[in-house]
Amino acid sequence: MNWRALFKPSAKYSIIALIVVGVIVGVVGYFATQQTLHATSSDAFCMTCHRDHSLRDEVMASAHGGGKAGVTVQCQDCHLPHGPVDYLIKKIIVSKDLIGLMTIDGFMTQEWLDENRKEQADLALEYFRSNDSANCQHCHTRIYEDQPETMKKMAVRMHSNNFKKAPEDRKTCVDCHKGVAHPYPKK
Ligand code: HEC
Ligand code: HEC
Ligand code: HEC
Ligand code: HEC
Repeated sequence: MNWRALFKPSAKYSIIALIVVGVIVGVVGYFATQQTLHATSSDAFCMTCHRDHSLRDEVMASAHGGGKAGVTVQCQDCHLPHGPVDYLIKKIIVSKDLIGLMTIDGFMTQEWLDENRKEQADLALEYFRSNDSANCQHCHTRIYEDQPETMKKMAVRMHSNNFKKAPEDRKTCVDCHKGVAHPYPKK
């Protein structure tokens, strides 16, 4: 084929024109998706299905609900990844929740959460362990190095000792800190 064919109208439109249209559609689609993903990442969205669960009240009552600085940490800050690709993948896993919602008897009740808390907590912990508690580290950036002077001695010691170990032997945040937003069940 002659390279000029690229610029010649094949039937009706030149291939270049088609590419331009394609790019525009792609860009519009990208932003539309971002909007959707954004809307599906608010506390309100999470609480549509978890509406009758005490989860948000628990967060509010914890150090992550207001604290001295008045910072309220959102569900997605802890539960969803920050990178766009990982974010999409986790979203697709979360969409298994849609099936759960339709198939789990009594899911939208506090009784269900109370009864299944341990199992659900351990599922949630699996995610934190899978990425070395990346979401925690995203905010808590001065745990291991350049620790603030105000950090408790005991905390400085525990953190420093952990950091001295080889990376594969280190504990991750949630190994030592369970129940930072919801009460971690004993059994
Ligand atoms: C479509 C309804 C629905 C929405 C929306 C929803 N969830 Fe869930 N969620 C569920 C169901 C159902 C389960 C139990 C799933 C199971 O065990 O299969 C669950 C379980 C969980 C768990 C524990 C199990 C695990 O795999 O980690 C966490 C954490 C969680 N949801 C967080 C969230 C967050 C954060 C949001 C908002 C970004 C959210 N959910 C939005 C229905 C929903
Ligand atoms: C969006 C930012 C953010 C994320 C994500 C976050 N934190 Fe925090 N965390 C804070 C802030 C802000 C405070 C301080 C509140 C205060 O000063 O009262 C805090 C306080 C704490 C404390 C001390 C208070 C207490 O409960 O003893 C611990 C421990 C802690 N976070 C662990 C974690 C762990 C573990 C994770 C991941 C599961 C995490 N944080 C995720 C912002 C965050
Ligand atoms: C080996 C166990 C261990 C690991 C791993 C660990 N911590 Fe800690 N952390 C502690 C202990 C023990 C304290 C002190 C507990 C207390 O004062 O209640 C502490 C205290 C804290 C505090 C409060 C500091 C203060 O002065 O009040 C924060 C915030 C915190 N850890 C966040 C994290 C985060 C985020 C991670 C992961 C990057 C992490 N920790 C990893 C054991 C650990
Ligand atoms: C500061 C981080 C943080 C925030 C904010 C947070 N979670 Fe969690 N969540 C966790 C951790 C860590 C676990 C694992 C169990 C544990 O340690 O208590 C968990 C566990 C869960 C579970 C499993 C059941 C349970 O209670 O353990 C659900 C469901 C859940 N979170 C939903 C939510 C929803 C909905 C929001 C927003 C209203 C939210 N979380 C906000 C850190 C957080």
